[in-house]
Amino acid sequence: KHCFRRGADGYLYCEGVRVEDAMTAAERSPFYLYSKPQILRNFAAYRDALQGLRSIIGYAVKANNNLPVLRVLRELGCGAVLVSGNELRLALQAGFDPARCIFNGNGKTLEHLKLAAESGVFVNVDSEFDLENIVRAARATGKKVPVLLRINPDVDPQVHPYVATGNKTSKFGIRNEKLQWFLDSIKSYPNEIKLVGVHCHLGSTITKVDIFRDAAVLMLNYVDEIRAQGFKLEYLNIGGGLGIDYHHTDAVLPTPMDLINTVRELVLSQDLTLIIEPGRSLIANTCCFVNRVTGVKSNGTKNFIVVDGSMAELIRPSLYGAYQHIELVSPPTPGAEAATFDIVGPVCESADFLGKDRELPTPDEGAGLVVHDAGAYCMSMASTYNLKLRPPEYWVEADGSIVKIRHGEKLDDYMKFFDGLPA
Ligand code: LLP
Repeated sequence: KHCFRRGADGYLYCEGVRVEDAMTAAERSPFYLYSKPQILRNFAAYRDALQGLRSIIGYAVKANNNLPVLRVLRELGCGAVLVSGNELRLALQAGFDPARCIFNGNGKTLEHLKLAAESGVFVNVDSEFDLENIVRAARATGKKVPVLLRINPDVDPQVHPYVATGNKTSKFGIRNEKLQWFLDSIKSYPNEIKLVGVHCHLGSTITKVDIFRDAAVLMLNYVDEIRAQGFKLEYLNIGGGLGIDYHHTDAVLPTPMDLINTVRELVLSQDLTLIIEPGRSLIANTCCFVNRVTGVKSNGTKNFIVVDGSMAELIRPSLYGAYQHIELVSPPTPGAEAATFDIVGPVCESADFLGKDRELPTPDEGAGLVVHDAGAYCMSMASTYNLKLRPPEYWVEADGSIVKIRHGEKLDDYMKFFDGLPA
């Protein structure tokens, strides 16, 4: 069951609520609209898939860092995967159990590593200098840091190059040739570092689970090799990256169950705790980006629907040429002709589009238009370009109530950056 469906009356619904009614209730347009029950359903899919395995679901906070969303995931039992000092602070603030958190990244600073050491989260080792900084952080805080080695397994995830991370040319992780150097080095810091596992992350929007299996096989070879040198490895972290059905076609895409089943026997055979780091597959489909149509125009052969949202609030189409499904919120006005449109925002550059060549009924001015699957890497990548200011967020609860879960950014908030500075 999916949260956004078209009702028999021709209106788009989020759970039991007409999206149009949410538009009336919202403080302004555009805004993000979530289904809280869908977050629970997505989590349940992972929980069910992981039955019979020791596991940690580390939610990738970069996908969506809305605080109420984080609290829901934490209450369900998720850990958190963090890539900056502020994400780490936010996760601790949201109450995540540090023993289920992983601090990741290729450019962690000493200051942030001290915070990580202090709080007791797992830290992924990404490079020689990173290891050095982890040792310094351990000494400064007097804490022994549990670490995983992020190994680059050189597997092609078959995705857009900007979101491929586990292949040879990627900036992330350490390569096979250097493994022994890292093991020797870690052995020389018995009071500072405890090696507890290995990590890899292949990329994002992956739609073939064989790719995860291939990587897991390679990683288990490393586990053997590392255990043979006397390390007590407990964790295999296979990262995140499971894709979702952005195209809303009938294509059958792998589910969390398919993903876990493809690595289950491997994990059990080595008596490991499996860590996974889903972002997109937990949160993307729980949300729509809701816009109002400002007007419709035609330039020669091209037709445009101009909406109030833009690349400032939702940059994935501009940045990756990503497809996100677009629909009108209300049934078409009788007599409205269908045509092929580019859906564009008001931002002053031609990279500003939410969708291209979409077949839609010609909408009236003021009509609602949604961009689907906007829960991951949309609000969290929003900017204030053209001083658009970041939009408010709402969710629909199981009982049909519409609750604001984030205020829209205001010009006053922006002006605060200049308080007390030279006129
Ligand atoms: N773990 C690590 C180490 C990661 O780098 C990422 C995402 C994840 C987990 C979560 O991956 P997911 O399950 O969400 O695919 N901005 C891009 C996506 C960048 C993904 C970065 N890393 C987009 O909008 O498609």
